[in-house]
Amino acid sequence: MAGAAYDNRDGHIWMDGKMVDWRDANVHILTHAMHYASSVFEGERAYNGKIFKSREHSERLKRSAQMIDFEVPYTVDEIEAAKVEVLAASGLQDAYVRAIAWRGAGEDMGVASARNPVRLAIAAWEWGAYYGDAKMKGAKLDISKWKRPSPETIPSHAKAAGLYMICTMSKHAAEAKGCSDAMMFDYRGYVAEATGANIFFVKDGEVHTPDPDCFLNGITRQTVIGMLRDKNIKVHERHIMPEELEGFEQCWLTGTAAEVTPVGQIGDYHFEVGTMTRDIAESYEKLVRA
Ligand SMILES: Cc1ncc(COP(=O)(O)O)c(C=O)c1O
Repeated sequence: MAGAAYDNRDGHIWMDGKMVDWRDANVHILTHAMHYASSVFEGERAYNGKIFKSREHSERLKRSAQMIDFEVPYTVDEIEAAKVEVLAASGLQDAYVRAIAWRGAGEDMGVASARNPVRLAIAAWEWGAYYGDAKMKGAKLDISKWKRPSPETIPSHAKAAGLYMICTMSKHAAEAKGCSDAMMFDYRGYVAEATGANIFFVKDGEVHTPDPDCFLNGITRQTVIGMLRDKNIKVHERHIMPEELEGFEQCWLTGTAAEVTPVGQIGDYHFEVGTMTRDIAESYEKLVRA
């Protein structure tokens, strides 16, 4: 199945309350979300048959929808049960799980969409290391020309499709330069995050990570901060200026897909894949399977 187009695979996808054949999990072209980005989603990983922080992801999905002005028409418990069903049907122990909620096709085709149904789908598939062998060597990141937007211009804390338009463009530009991903600054010029992962730096045995005041405060980010504090490592959540990049010794990314991925380079700045980075990556791997 690996390598097959995502719309042409065997298996089942949960859609609006029932399991449908993978190839029949389709929507109409006049789906509101397709035209106006009225959709929110989750990326989750199952390890040994259990989704890590499953409930937190379902709760975030509901919150993201509320932030973009709709209600997911299922309770957290119902979403949890649907994910269990999807994972069991996939036959996978280790899997990536994607839940997506969106404004469907209906009576409205303008910008307003109050009369269209809100829909939910959940799929699971096999997905290995997000950054391939960068996981060991340290990923090389480009610096994006796009900035994370102000919370006054878009609901920046939602995991909403509309926020990924600039991420896709940033990642394409990065890949064209031989990089795995791009680091983005925010609208004020502070270091923000990568296109699908949060960022951490190490200096003098302490950890510095951007204050998530205009981007997703990742579930992995919060988990890793907890792990660092348990190890009595000082974590500073603060605004980070671009000129500070030169002085940082180590760097890593966190995300459900990325897990803990060491970074070796951002633009012209170099980082070592050091002891703390390796230790936190290993501890995270143990925790998700604990
Ligand atoms: C833009 C962005 N930032 C951060 C993250 C990390 O979030 P999490 O750790 O909850 O997966 C993700 C991935 O979900 C993301 O897409």
